[in-house]
Amino acid sequence: MRSKIVAGNWKMNKNLDEGLALTSEIVNMFKDEVNSDALAIIAAPFPLLSGVNGLIKDTDNVFLAAQTCSEYASGAYTGEVSTSMLSSVGVAYVILGHSERRGYFHESDEILAKKTDTVLQAGMKPIFCCGESLETRESGDHFKFVCDQLTAGLFHLDADAFSKVVIAYEPIWAIGTGKTASAEQAQEMHEKLRAHVAEKYGKDIADDTSILYGGSCKPGNAAEIFAGKDVDGGLIGGASLKSRDFVDIIKAF
Ligand code: 13P
Repeated sequence: MRSKIVAGNWKMNKNLDEGLALTSEIVNMFKDEVNSDALAIIAAPFPLLSGVNGLIKDTDNVFLAAQTCSEYASGAYTGEVSTSMLSSVGVAYVILGHSERRGYFHESDEILAKKTDTVLQAGMKPIFCCGESLETRESGDHFKFVCDQLTAGLFHLDADAFSKVVIAYEPIWAIGTGKTASAEQAQEMHEKLRAHVAEKYGKDIADDTSILYGGSCKPGNAAEIFAGKDVDGGLIGGASLKSRDFVDIIKAF
């Protein structure tokens, strides 16, 4: 059965003290208030990972993620962070292909396919992001565009490797804009993505793949969005920076 997941992507926010305080609040609220089997994932900036891990490592349902990684294993790549470094500080998931990485840092489908392999080889799980611009949606090509992103980044994997991947659908026009996709738009895209996975890997693997929605998800709209039968949780930006909002989103299940 697929997992229900709410992942907080802190992006380039929070220094160490702020990040540790936020994590403690989330862990305490989660313990006291969350009684579903949903998993929480915290995707903190690199310098905070080890400290955040210290606060979550003894919990059952809170996991650590990085926001990207190098496609190289080790060596003379100044400024890069390898998957073995990440796994050594307790990282279990790595976000790959966020539209901010694809856009601002020119991460191509080829690089993302390599990063996917590197993450899986290190025993971690990719949270692989896809999503269309407003222009693509208005052109009517959005389903094909987003399915093609999955094909290019993931479909070289064998079935066993693919079964470790989490997918996150994040329409670019809904990220940080306050303009969320409607519950119908999210469900419709998730259904297409699951059918696309089923065509390649079969129905059982598709049914077991968690597909998260991201883009202006908040406590006020999470329950409606998560009610979609193919929506298995959220990848949360702005609202993950406040413990109350993040935990209330988890409680939306
Ligand atoms: P917002 O929730 O701030 O729109 O960000 C979504 C996102 O990009 C998560 O990765």
